[in-house]
Amino acid sequence: MRNIVLATNNSHKLREVREILEPLGITVLSQQEAGVQVEPEENGSTFAENAEIKARAVYAETGLPVLADDSGLCVDALDGAPGVYSARFAPAGELCSKLLSMMQDVPAAQRTAKFVTDIAFIDENGQLLICEGECCGTIGYEERGTNGFGYDPVFFYGDRSFAELSAQEKNQVSHRANALKKLYDVLKERYGESHADK
Ligand code: IMP
Repeated sequence: MRNIVLATNNSHKLREVREILEPLGITVLSQQEAGVQVEPEENGSTFAENAEIKARAVYAETGLPVLADDSGLCVDALDGAPGVYSARFAPAGELCSKLLSMMQDVPAAQRTAKFVTDIAFIDENGQLLICEGECCGTIGYEERGTNGFGYDPVFFYGDRSFAELSAQEKNQVSHRANALKKLYDVLKERYGESHADK
C-alpha cells in the first residue's frame, strides 16, 4: 500500500480522489492526516504553476509523494478571465452575478468557456508530473440550479448548467474528473495494474 498526500483539506476533493486511486492500492492522505499545515501563496501565472507551488510545499514538509490541484474558469469573450483568479474574482456569493454582468452584451455564439484543472504529482524522488483536464461549455444568461459551487449555476454543459447536474453526472465530465483520469492512467502504469480493475 502506497501513501500519497493530497495537498488539501477539502473533504469533497479528498473523497473524489480516494474513490479513483484506492483501486490502485494507493492510500490518499489529507494534509491534516499527513501532519502538515502549509498555505503557500498561489502566485503562479498558470494553473500548472499554482498546482506545483502547492505540491512542492507539502513535499518539502513530508518527503511523501504529493498531489495538488488548481482549477478555474476561462471565458473566451474575456480573454480567458477569470482564469487563475477564479476564486478571487469577486466576493463569495457574487462570482456568478459579476460574471453575468460582464457578459451581458456578449452574443450567444461568443459565450464559450471552459473549466480547467491542472494536477501536479510529485513522486517519491521529487519528480514532477502535470496532468491537465478541461470541460468545455458556455456561459448562460442567468443562474440556474442549486447543486455544486462556484460558477456552476452559470456554466452550461449542453442545455443544463453544472448546478442542474447531479454530483454523479458532473463527475463523469468535469475538468477535475478528466485530469484525474489522466493521472489514474499514469499511476496505473507506474504502480501496476494488479489492483486497478475492481
Ligand atoms: P480550486 O483551485 O479547485 O480551489 O478552484 C478555484 C476556483 O475556481 C474556485 O473557488 C471556484 O470559484 C472555481 N471552480 C473550480 N472548479 C469549479 C467547479 O467545478 N465548479 C464551479 N467553480 C469551480
